[in-house]
Amino acid sequence: MAKTAKHKRPRVVKSVKALRDAMSDWRKRKLPIALVPTMGALHAGHISLVDLAKKSAKKVVVSIFVNPTQFGPNEDFSRYPRTLEADLDKLTQAGADLVFMPDAKEMYPEGFSTMLTPSGPAAVGLDDKFRPGHFSGVATVVAKLFTSVMPDIAIFGDKDYQQLQVIKTMARDLHLPVKVIGAPVIREKDGLALSSRNVYLSAADRAAAPILHKTLKQSAKAIKQGEAADAVLARGREQIAAAGFKIDYLELRDAATLAPAPEDKKSKKRLLVAAKIGNTRLIDNIAV
Ligand code: PAF
Repeated sequence: MAKTAKHKRPRVVKSVKALRDAMSDWRKRKLPIALVPTMGALHAGHISLVDLAKKSAKKVVVSIFVNPTQFGPNEDFSRYPRTLEADLDKLTQAGADLVFMPDAKEMYPEGFSTMLTPSGPAAVGLDDKFRPGHFSGVATVVAKLFTSVMPDIAIFGDKDYQQLQVIKTMARDLHLPVKVIGAPVIREKDGLALSSRNVYLSAADRAAAPILHKTLKQSAKAIKQGEAADAVLARGREQIAAAGFKIDYLELRDAATLAPAPEDKKSKKRLLVAAKIGNTRLIDNIAV
């Protein structure tokens, strides 16, 4: 039997003006507002962010915008999955209140000339090294989403861990009055982190993909048990390559700054991986 919607379909607005008009009554009533920024192709990971947003605020805005400025020239902008109707069904089920779905002209009108250039966690030799310009595009569009929606809180997945640190730093540095919250990675039963890009995986690549999470878990355990990080990481890189991946990085970093991790036992650390199988680049990370 078809699942009946508990909630009514959220209103969809496409311009910043329509967005602000739609939210003006909430603002007058001082209702706490949460924003969940997305590029669509929604999966259970995104819906977990909407669920957390609903618990944390009275009104939930979800943005859907495949942001051209965060894709490199040889990346997947044109083939990035676009599944609008299914996305709106999922957002109805999840109880989102408003969907902001601008087009590229609304976000980057003729004459647009102000891009942010984040440093700090955006310049530590992880995704920034392999996707030059990516975090400039992310920081710019997220700053624009923040100033358009003016949410009290904004929720992002921990899966894009470097992105989360870049956005937290950007919001702090620009004095944007929004609390940026990271939410846990949602995984398939075999450990693969949910990602809109998983649809690109061939059956054979999909079968190999859980090695990323398995390696992260094994490596984190070995490091926590006191084994030297360099040896653990070298072994992890070999294991991932043996499964058919071309590895960009497997690195242990300080959890907040993402600078190379200090040798101490006290500071919080994060193990991060990015690797390509076939034409699909996957990223994942775990707390250590
Ligand atoms: O994580 C994403 O989906 C995107 O990078 C974001 C944060 C929506 C910015 O375009």
